[in-house]
Amino acid sequence: MSRTPIIAGNWKMHLTKRKASALAREIASAQGVRSNRRCYVFPTYVHLDHVRRNLRGSDVKLGAQNCWHKKEGAYTGEISPYMLRDMGVDVVLLGHSERRHVLGESDALIADKVKLALKAKLEVMLCVGEKIEEREAGLTFEVLARQMKALKMVKPGLADRVTIAYEPVWAIGTGAVATPEIAQEAHAEVRRQIAANLGPDVAAKMQILYGGSVTGSNAAELLSQPDVDGALVGGASLTIDKFAPILAAVQGA
Ligand code: PGA
Repeated sequence: MSRTPIIAGNWKMHLTKRKASALAREIASAQGVRSNRRCYVFPTYVHLDHVRRNLRGSDVKLGAQNCWHKKEGAYTGEISPYMLRDMGVDVVLLGHSERRHVLGESDALIADKVKLALKAKLEVMLCVGEKIEEREAGLTFEVLARQMKALKMVKPGLADRVTIAYEPVWAIGTGAVATPEIAQEAHAEVRRQIAANLGPDVAAKMQILYGGSVTGSNAAELLSQPDVDGALVGGASLTIDKFAPILAAVQGA
């Protein structure tokens, strides 16, 4: 089963308007027209429109880092997935570990966001991953199974608009990248959970990205694992010098 690899840059709360626009232009030309991989970028909300204009003419997909779980209403400070769609956003990141563990988002809230984002015709990248104490207590698979239940919100026929990012919390921003073996073991479990929620055909097709301290030096080895279908990159996605080698790490790039 061939799954087109995805390399995604999560810019988090970084960059100025000028720097984000310049980086978008650089990525758009570095990415070029490649049939062997896809590239997504996730700027902060206020830079989405500038980045969109600077990606024009490329096949790089524009992503938002979050959305709210209601279409509209009195939710001061929140952003509807319909608003994102309206301004040309393709994909939304949901359940990132910083949303779960710094901002306190629950599995139930994230599941509701998945449901509405798909209804708004966005793609969804659902992030899952265990904390270090959960791994040490042997709870990794249990945590993944619980977080992956959000897939129950995916109606038949919409699964091709969903990707998963496995990001062990202990590897995010720490330099402590998972070994390829640890990543593969967790990705295989994530694929079992996709099958449990949506069936084996969907599981065979759905891309599972690895995230957590990915760099140009470790990307190729991670991507060579059978169930690792791409990378979600934070720190190393903020400059073209660091991001281009990750794009190039996709086989045959
Ligand atoms: P990192 O972040 O690459 O800086 O570890 C990854 C992420 O949080 O998506």
